[in-house]
Amino acid sequence: MPSETLVQLENISRKYYLDKTEICALDNVSFQIHKADFVVLAGPSGSGKTTLLNIIGCIDKPSQGKVFFEGTDITNTPIEKLNHLRLKNIGFIFQSFNLIPVLTAFENVELPLLFKGLDDKTIKNLVEKFLHRVGLMDKINEKPSNLSGGQRQRLAIARALAGNPSLIVADEPTASLDRKNAESIIELLRELNDEFGVTIVLASHDPMIIEHSRTKLFMRDGQLVSE
Ligand SMILES: Nc1ncnc2c1ncn2[C@@H]1O[C@H](COP(=O)(O)OP(=O)(O)OP(=O)(O)O)[C@@H](O)[C@H]1O
Ligand SMILES: [Mg+2]
Repeated sequence: MPSETLVQLENISRKYYLDKTEICALDNVSFQIHKADFVVLAGPSGSGKTTLLNIIGCIDKPSQGKVFFEGTDITNTPIEKLNHLRLKNIGFIFQSFNLIPVLTAFENVELPLLFKGLDDKTIKNLVEKFLHRVGLMDKINEKPSNLSGGQRQRLAIARALAGNPSLIVADEPTASLDRKNAESIIELLRELNDEFGVTIVLASHDPMIIEHSRTKLFMRDGQLVSE
């Protein structure tokens, strides 16, 4: 079992306010994510999975509690520094792929690497390596609209992985896919988890994903509950 801690959450709460009504999306949640683990956040709709994933992925901040990334307290880190931390360390995969429609497969994977300031040759090698790894070299010049759902998600995975992140967060990565594609995406993510030691945290209520995950966390009404 992996043991070093990548992300630690201490007594996290996240409240939203809608017309003066307070919604407590996360209620005093504490846990650790270990390096190289494959974690699923499961639970019914509205239980707080996306809210928690956004905090783990440093997209959002808690209303209360502390967040540590690789041992550093980032709870009060200013947004520019957090953006930098995200670019360097975290890859994202979404239900609806979030690819850029006017860019080719190559360019979609290339874009975050350009933001990182890598040189052209390194970028080309990385893009080709990861497109090859996810089985999309024959689609390298295609735009997302010419790819199937499964291929689009593979492209999103290549994009998330090419920057060598220590963490990939994936919100319902198979919810837009049929069973066969959903299974092959989960298989691919498990392989990449083993191959690169990248920590993967997914939100899903799909029993197939829950079964394939190493660590299973169940949520209900903004709290972690036992299975
Ligand atoms: N931006 C927001 N403003 C107000 N309330 C929100 C906001 N985002 C989420 N919520 C509320 O917070 C709670 C948790 O939502 P969240 O999206 O984290 O659930 P989820 O487990 O991801 O659900 P689903 O499975 O449907 O994606 C819900 O009650 C939701 O209505
Ligand atoms: Mg959600």
